[in-house]
Order: sequence, then C-alpha cells, then structure tokens
Amino acid sequence: MRMVVPFVDLRTQYHQLKTEIDRAIQDVLDSGVFLFGGQVEVFEKEFAAYLGAPHAVAVSSGTEALRLALLAAGVGPGDEVLTTALTAVATVVAIEGVGARAILVDIDPATYTLDVSQVEARLTSQTKAIVPVHLYGHPTDLQPLLDIANSRALEIIEDACQAHGATYYNTKAGSFGLFGCFSFYPTKNLGGYGDGGMIVTGSADHAEQVRLLRNYGERERFTHYLRGFNSRMDELQAAVLRVKLGHLDASNAQRRLLARAYDNQLKGTGVKLPVERPGSTHVYCSYVIRHPSRDRLREWLAGRGIDTGVQYPRPIHLQPAYSDLGAGPGSFPAAEEAASEILSLPIFPERDKSQVAMVCDAIRAFVA
Ligand SMILES: Cc1ncc(COP(=O)(O)O)c(C=O)c1O
Repeated sequence: MRMVVPFVDLRTQYHQLKTEIDRAIQDVLDSGVFLFGGQVEVFEKEFAAYLGAPHAVAVSSGTEALRLALLAAGVGPGDEVLTTALTAVATVVAIEGVGARAILVDIDPATYTLDVSQVEARLTSQTKAIVPVHLYGHPTDLQPLLDIANSRALEIIEDACQAHGATYYNTKAGSFGLFGCFSFYPTKNLGGYGDGGMIVTGSADHAEQVRLLRNYGERERFTHYLRGFNSRMDELQAAVLRVKLGHLDASNAQRRLLARAYDNQLKGTGVKLPVERPGSTHVYCSYVIRHPSRDRLREWLAGRGIDTGVQYPRPIHLQPAYSDLGAGPGSFPAAEEAASEILSLPIFPERDKSQVAMVCDAIRAFVA
C-alpha cells in the first residue's frame, strides 16, 4: 500500500534546498578536489561554532566518531564502558570496537535516556568511561552524571548522534563530555547524503589525537605519528552538510512545532506522550509515543497509509548477538517495557500540520 504519510521523506527536503545543494555539489565537482579540499575544514569550524565547542573533527560516520573518541580517551581492552540498554547498536559496536566491555544500565522510563541514579551501582575498578546517549533528541540528565564522572576520574563521551542542537540548561548537548559524537546519517536532524560523523571536544590535544587517528596517523604526508585508520569525511559530504547546517535551527524549530501539534491533539487519548525534562530542549529526532498494544496500533496506522517506526524493538541485551551483556529478559525492565510499547510517529520537518492531524485522527479512532 502507498503510504499517504511516509515515515521519512528526504526527497522533499532536497527539493526545498535544491538550488543551494546543487550549487555546493557543483562547486566541489568543478574544483576536482574530493578529499582535503577545504570544505571539511570549514564545516568543522562552522559545526564547532554552532555547538559552542572549541574543536570539531569530521569523520566518516557516527559509529567511527564514537570509536575514535573512545580510543583517544585511552579506552581499550580490559576497560569497562557504561552505556544505556536502549540505544542504536552502533553505541555498543564502537565500545567493543576498541576492545572494551559494554556495561549496560537501564533507562529512565520518562525520557528513555540513561537512568543516572543506577550508574554508581554498575561502576567497578575497570570502569573507564560512560557513554550517555541523548536518545530521540532528548539530552541525558548530564549534571549528576558529570558529578559522578568527576569524583571517579571517569571520562564522559556523549553519544549525541540523535541530538544536533538539543540543549541542557542552554548549552548544546555534545559539548559537556571530553568528547561529543554526532552522526550525519541521512535521517538525522542534520543528515548528509551518505555517511558522516563529527567529534567535538574542548581539548586541543584530544582534537589533534582524533585528527591523526582518522587519517592513518599522518600529520604531514607519509609520516605516521600513530597507528590510525581511514575514517575521513569527503568534500561532497561536507559541502552538503554545510548547506544543511545553515537550516538546522529552523528545521529543529519546525520539529518542535510538530511535536507540540501532536501533544495537543493526542492529549487525553491515554497514549503516553514524550516529555521534556525541565532545563532540556528536545529536538525530536524521533517523536515517540507509548501504547500497550503498540503492534496493533502500528498495523492500524499502516492500514490507513501512515508509516511509523520502532526505535528500538529490542534493547541491546535481548539482541541475539549481545545476549551476554545482560542476564536475559528482566535484566533491564524499564528498557524492556519501553521496547515493547514505543512507537515513533512521522516528524520530519517537511511534514505539515494536516498530516499530523491525519495521524492523530487515526490514533484517536484506534483508541476509541
Ligand atoms: C544513538 C546513535 N548512536 C550511534 C549511531 C551511529 O551513527 P552512524 O550510523 O552514523 O554510524 C546512531 C545512528 O544510527 C545513533 O542513532
């Protein structure tokens, strides 16, 4: 069946920005320089300025941003890294990618982010770092987490892959930890036309370290100061992302407007709505509701041409490949309960309010 309300629609966004995007791509093509041509460097400066962070280093994906940040933070084999049980598998891929062990922590059921009150109980003498995930675009409660990290000399590496522009007490998410890591996967609030990522940090030394790591450890050509990788961003991607960065605040404002429209129209239906913790600004990478009959609701909406998503249907420890990270069902009850009830409604910024009304009418009819 053709979806009347698709879950994402990246073509509409491209057509709205077509003149700017086409010009940016054409300029790179005309320059004949596809790596190290200047677009990446300027994008890094613009993204750092946007975030209010001193340094930004562009890389090939969000997963790679997390992996290089963990390496540069000195995390390696034998170390433990705490993160949340409800996240994109990429968070755990990056932790295990440096040889460390991921130690899962349950979520705060209200915001779906790491339950900071459960962190201390999971710390051991092997714990080296904590990776809070600002899931769906809502910041983790960072201050108490920073207090724990500071008192135990642990590093915080923020997984801000879904939270471009979100704020925690007026400061941008991603600028609190030793590193903040972003993904430019096409459907993110700031999405490229392929893969891309960014590492931001306040430390010049750590910025230099990830800069070396992303390009074979080279500072000057063919001299390798450390054993690195090919984790570079290319010029075409940076050129597209520079255009889109100029529209990020407007597009986040539109997401928030649509979220308020959903809130207003779903109020009183009994469907659980997303919350915004005081002091935090949610940027609604996803607008996530909860319903005990989630699968039936999802089918009902699909039957009316409304596409939805579930992020994520299984917490990490219930994934077949990661079953050793928990003790089976019941290990992280809040994450498990959420995973069985959450439903992401279409919220990309090119959506208009009439489509929100269609979705809400269909949900109201289901509930009735
Ligand atoms: C929370 C989270 N962490 C990490 C990633 C990994 O980013 P990427 O797909 O760019 O590697 C994503 C994106 O899918 C994500 O949503």
